[in-house]
Formats: sequence, C-alpha cells, structure tokens
Amino acid sequence: MRTRLDRKELVRLLTVSDAEFLPVLEEADRVCQEQFGKQVYIRALLEFSNHCKRACKYCGLNCTNSKLARFRMEPDAIVQTAVQAADAGYRTIVLQSGEDAWYSVQILGDIVKAIKSERPHLAVTLSCGEFPADAYQYLKQCGADRYLLKHETSDPKLYAYLHPDSSFAERFSCLKAIKEAGLETGGGFMIGLVGQTPETIADDLLTVASIPCDMAGVGPFLPHPDTVLRDAPHGSASLTIRAVALLRLLLPKANLPATTALGVLDAEQKDKIFRCGANVIMQKVTPADFKKMYQIYPAKFQDYSIEEGRRQVEEEIRRVGRIPV
Ligand code: 5AD
Repeated sequence: MRTRLDRKELVRLLTVSDAEFLPVLEEADRVCQEQFGKQVYIRALLEFSNHCKRACKYCGLNCTNSKLARFRMEPDAIVQTAVQAADAGYRTIVLQSGEDAWYSVQILGDIVKAIKSERPHLAVTLSCGEFPADAYQYLKQCGADRYLLKHETSDPKLYAYLHPDSSFAERFSCLKAIKEAGLETGGGFMIGLVGQTPETIADDLLTVASIPCDMAGVGPFLPHPDTVLRDAPHGSASLTIRAVALLRLLLPKANLPATTALGVLDAEQKDKIFRCGANVIMQKVTPADFKKMYQIYPAKFQDYSIEEGRRQVEEEIRRVGRIPV
C-alpha cells in the first residue's frame, strides 16, 4: 500500500465499495505471506472460569446474568489440561476467564509456574482481565509469555456505556502496562457495536497500532439472548475482514487470529480471512461440560477430545490451502 494509512484514509477504505477494497485484501495477503508464508499458527484455548465481576453489556458472562450456571476449574485441573494440550501438539495455551477474583495474581502465577515446570516449551498466554500494573510484571516473572486484553472500542462514550464499571482510559493504561511488563501484548475490538461508526473503527485500528500490539483479535459483535443487547443487530463479517486486512497493513508482523465469533457468524468468511491477513486460529481445549457454560456469545456447542479438536483444526487449515503449525 503506497498511501499512508492515517485516520482519514482508513475511514475511506472502510467505506469504499467491495470492488475498490479488493486490492487492499490482496495486499494484506501478500504482506501476511511475506511474514508467515502459508503457515497458520494454532493456539489452544482453555476457558477455566466463567465467573465474572463485570457487567459488560454485550457479554453472556456478565455478572447480572442470573440464568448462567457458573463453573471454576481447580488450578491442578488447569495445569493438567495444559499438559494434555502440549502433548496433543499445541505450542501455546491461552488461559481465559471472566474477571474472577477467586484466582488471585498469586494463584495465576502458581498455575503458570506449574505449567512451565511440566512443559517448559509451551507458551502461556493469559486472558483474565484488568489488573494493576505490578500484577502483569509478576505474571511475567512467573513465566507468562503473553497477555490478551482487547480494548473492545476506542470510543470513550461507547466504552463507558458498554462497561458500566470501567473506562477506556483504564483499559488503555492496562494495555500499556502489559506491554511495559515485557509480555507479548494482545489487543483487539469488536465490529458492529451499537453506535460504532467507520471513524470509531479507524480509531480502533490506530489504537491497536499505537500500543503497538503483538497480536490483535477483531470479531463481529453477536447479540447474546441473556443480555440487554439481545435485540441489537450482529456485526458485519465483511467489515470484520476489512478491519483485519487493514490491521495487517498497519502491523505486518502481528499475529492476527481468525476470531471464533467470525466463524460462528459465517464459516465461509472465516476461511476467507486466512487469505486476507489472518495467520492464527484458536481451538478450544475446555472440558465439554464447561465449554457449554462459557457462552460469551451464542455459539453451537461441539463436543470433541483435545486430540480430535487438534485434528479437526489442522484439517480446516489444510482445506483453505494453508499449513497448520
Ligand atoms: N459478541 C462478540 N464478541 C464478544 N466478546 C464478548 N462478548 C461478545 C459478543 N456478544 C468478545 C470480546 C472479548 C472476547 C473474549 O470476546 O471482544 O474480549
């Protein structure tokens, strides 16, 4: 892309016709292949607790959802699942939860240390929400490699509406703290939130680039029936793809996943995204009983063993002409 991707240009590209956007998709694929060849990295995702103290309006795990049965995995069970994932061929495990104070920073650190002592070559990514800056430093010292914390939306007013107990400024300072702690930093945002404009998305892209994030997930908003946004329309798959392609051009070396939410909305578009800049996919290794209860957004529930899931995702990647790693 010869033109500078400033805010004005990003807004223009987010709103041009599909035909006009096509060269951007091709350029994003070229840049992606220059960095990663045809390889797609597979990450194991373990959802270890659906307890959450937050009231985020879009999320099925929010603390006001009294319909949801809650679960919490014991630290030992988390470590054992990580070991199983490593033995099934995964090189990274993402440990994700709601903001659950049961897991103190100390306990999370102990889990990371135990995983690292059992399987030293397994990269550990945490995705457990907001902490004070020194907590991220501590988790890094315990051996954590990466931390995911999406900024969700860069519009401060929209952010405050969606997250009644937080602010965009706090979120942004957490991301900065993660980066400063020396953790590989994962960000990202949703497409199609109520009141979002192309300008918001341009700012979202620039926010991710300003950290700069080492990874970023962009997914469509999907209305959850047990939230106040149940009647809001879902985000657009093609706009999600545009955002990922633009992010690839802004951050050529970043790891950009094909988000699960995109696959839920439109499986074909999820395949397409590997030809438009995405180079990562996550596969759940959450035990079946808990997977059902971890509904951030409505998704069909699939039951498979860790080994079977691994085979399925490798197959999915080969089907789109890429090489699973
Ligand atoms: N639709 C789509 N994505 C969602 N997330 C949370 N709730 C929803 C929803 N209703 C995303 C957020 C969060 C990630 C774990 O899932 O971006 O960071």
